[in-house]
Amino acid sequence: MTILDETYTLSNGVEIPKLGLGTWFIDDDQAADAVRAAVEIGYRNIDTAQAYGNERGVGEGVRTAYVPRDELFVSTKLAAEIKDYDQALAAIDGSLNGLGLDRIDLMLIHSPQPWDDFRGDYAQGNREAWRALEDAHRVGTIRSIGVSNFQQHDLENILQGATVVPHVNQLLVHAGNTPAELLAYCESKQILVEAYSPIAHGAILQNAEVQAMAQKYGVTVPQLCIRYTLQLGVVSLPKTANPEHMRSNAEVDFEISGDDMDVLRELRDVDYGEHSAFPVYSGK
Ligand SMILES: NC(=O)c1ccc[n+]([C@@H]2O[C@H](COP(=O)([O-])OP(=O)(O)OC[C@H]3O[C@@H](n4cnc5c(N)ncnc54)[C@H](OP(=O)(O)O)[C@@H]3O)[C@@H](O)[C@H]2O)c1
Repeated sequence: MTILDETYTLSNGVEIPKLGLGTWFIDDDQAADAVRAAVEIGYRNIDTAQAYGNERGVGEGVRTAYVPRDELFVSTKLAAEIKDYDQALAAIDGSLNGLGLDRIDLMLIHSPQPWDDFRGDYAQGNREAWRALEDAHRVGTIRSIGVSNFQQHDLENILQGATVVPHVNQLLVHAGNTPAELLAYCESKQILVEAYSPIAHGAILQNAEVQAMAQKYGVTVPQLCIRYTLQLGVVSLPKTANPEHMRSNAEVDFEISGDDMDVLRELRDVDYGEHSAFPVYSGK
């Protein structure tokens, strides 16, 4: 048994594999190959989004992978700009059509605000988008529903009138960026957190302190970082289109000590360098 066989159980009883494949920046025409390669290696959880422009390719990969559709957990995200009930319903249909699937395992509101207006007030729009997800969940086309990049007040806003508590909140979580209070709040509401950019979008690969710790454990920096997120009790979604990286990213059968978890939690100097536009809400 490897990490690829392990699952968490969402509050609605649906099982979600602990390790998934992120697909941001995988082109549509390369996504099917990446998904098929990942499934062959043993990945069962694939994360895409309307904003990635690769739902078609991801869906093709899922439909042509060598395991049955039912054994895969496919997530996508409602575009951050959609804050209206009717548009959200239409976009959900768009994802089903784009993926070429009759069912999505998890669909998230991608962000509480559109990417070009982080300071705007979209409280009402988020409640409308949520109602559309609830309705699609009720009829069964979406098995689980959730949000992404939602802070506590964003969650409280949709909880006001919700009939379904979000099953998931997908957040930026990596060594050096661990939103402890929000993680605890989500846990208190039985909202499972998924860690996006667990390797800090690649920026942490050059961090000397993390490199030294990885060496101590005899693992790579990505393995250490992925293991860190898993030991926090969250889903980990590293992105790669490289099958060698997919394989090694799943070899995380080691234990980070409590002291080293604290060091990674408190890490302060992740240099985003060429990724300097990252992370604060520039992610997708
Ligand atoms: N909800 C949101 O707002 C949001 C935001 C950002 C990301 N996400 C999700 O989270 C996923 C992951 O985040 P991310 O793409 O930002 O970054 P990430 O997974 O933290 O890092 C990806 C980078 O790490 C490299 N990498 C992966 N495995 C490696 C290995 N074993 N050795 C060396 N380099 C390795 C990749 O390069 P190679 O491709 O060359 O391997 C890529 O450059 C996304 O794809 C997306 O699904 C969601």
